[in-house]
Amino acid sequence: MSFPKNFLWGGATAANQIEGAYDVDGKGLSVTDITTAGSLDHPRYLTYKLNGKLEKTPGMPGAGIPAGAVGAIDPNEYYPNHVAIDFYHHYKEDIKMFADMGFKTFRLSIAWTRIFPKGDEEKPNQAGLDFYRHVFEECKKYNIEPLVTISHYEDPLYLSEKYHDWQDRKMIDMYVKYAKTLFEEYKGLVKYWLTFNEINSALLMLSSFGEKVSDDAAYQHAYQKLHYQFVASARAVKLAHEIDPNYVVGNMICGIVDYPLTPDPKDILLNRHMWEESIFYCGDAQCKGKYPTFAKRLWKEHNVHLDITEQDKKDMLEGKVDMYTFSYYMSNVVTTHEVKDKVGGNFAAGAKNPYLKYSEWGWATDPDGLQYYLEVMYDRYELPLMVVENGLGAKDKIDADGKIHDQYRIDYLRMHIEAMNRAIENGVDVRAYTTWGCIDEVSAGTGQMSKRYGFIYVDRDDKGNGTLKRMPKDSFYWYKKVIASNGEDLA
Ligand code: BG6
Repeated sequence: MSFPKNFLWGGATAANQIEGAYDVDGKGLSVTDITTAGSLDHPRYLTYKLNGKLEKTPGMPGAGIPAGAVGAIDPNEYYPNHVAIDFYHHYKEDIKMFADMGFKTFRLSIAWTRIFPKGDEEKPNQAGLDFYRHVFEECKKYNIEPLVTISHYEDPLYLSEKYHDWQDRKMIDMYVKYAKTLFEEYKGLVKYWLTFNEINSALLMLSSFGEKVSDDAAYQHAYQKLHYQFVASARAVKLAHEIDPNYVVGNMICGIVDYPLTPDPKDILLNRHMWEESIFYCGDAQCKGKYPTFAKRLWKEHNVHLDITEQDKKDMLEGKVDMYTFSYYMSNVVTTHEVKDKVGGNFAAGAKNPYLKYSEWGWATDPDGLQYYLEVMYDRYELPLMVVENGLGAKDKIDADGKIHDQYRIDYLRMHIEAMNRAIENGVDVRAYTTWGCIDEVSAGTGQMSKRYGFIYVDRDDKGNGTLKRMPKDSFYWYKKVIASNGEDLA
């Protein structure tokens, strides 16, 4: 195995999926706080009042509420993120367990609404700042390097209502003020920052099988939101470097690998265009600091007209990220031909790949896809890479011996670590691997607790029952060996 000496092994989480304590110590409401529980067959909903009437609309992670709506909590609905796994009150115990596994890094996000409850306050909320300071100090106690996502699918609800989910450039200033507060406050405690989680997700939900499933207005919305986020990200990167030259700031892309179903040149071209829109558009904007040449084609195709200023272009060029980070779970197959055998999950839809196995949620296990993705991205950007999410969502069961024997998870992770190693041997500069949901957490896509990813089991079900007690699974002891051997011992 060829993992570098200081390779950052660890795990990843997001504030809204673990913390709970949604209305504690001055925290304001995030969009996630008005998102209901869903399941494999039922979407999650955003609940709100429109003209005084309680209504709901399907809401994927990162979505905003309709124009004119005011977010509302419906007493008849269940909101799994309100309590989540209550990391807010268990963080010491959880970080100790991460340390027991030997974590070198822990990826977590900051809830914007703990720092600025509505988003537009003059001064930050001291209790929120203190909470994350304590968390980072706890990590440092065990030599765990925090890897911090500034925005992970939870905009302040107030801002989302007021600026209709990033449809106003004032959002840039709000975000930059928030990021600046973090960079100043946690100087010396944090080194690695990610500006927006899966920034490209705004585009992923607009098409299916390479075909538009959304109207022009949805494309206009998504592309404008992205432009403001690119500028916000770039301005944050510049500020981070000014505040502390040691800061390393990355983007974060939802890394879905698309393959063509057939050798029909039309499929090959469609596949290429899928990569351009879904993956390279955002990657280029953040790593090269400018829009790719094919952007004009995309804007024309979708009838998109963007508010872009000369200053925006300058900011983007001056605020290129220092590293490329991404999540990787699966690959998809696209085609121009009719397909009978289809699969679908959140962010995933396409023809079924006969060479791969699928999870209960329709996600294909494809470690070669990870190697492919790493090699393509290193070639394109020549930046250090971090795999900041990877894992298998599965239903775990406590066996008669009181333990969880999650060999399926071990197998999945082993294959992906081997694939990552092959990419490293091919010259790719990979710096970190943080498995998703190192401790069980609320699923972003379905809101289920039962779609578990963790090395650590948390006793809580899809309806909110359970003691919240933590328990190591078999994979906990396996990952501990992997880290101790720097990836040598994968048995
Ligand atoms: C990524 C997100 O899309 O995938 C996470 O960054 C999310 O927030 C993860 O939890 C797994 O998806 P899901 O829907 O299984 O929770």
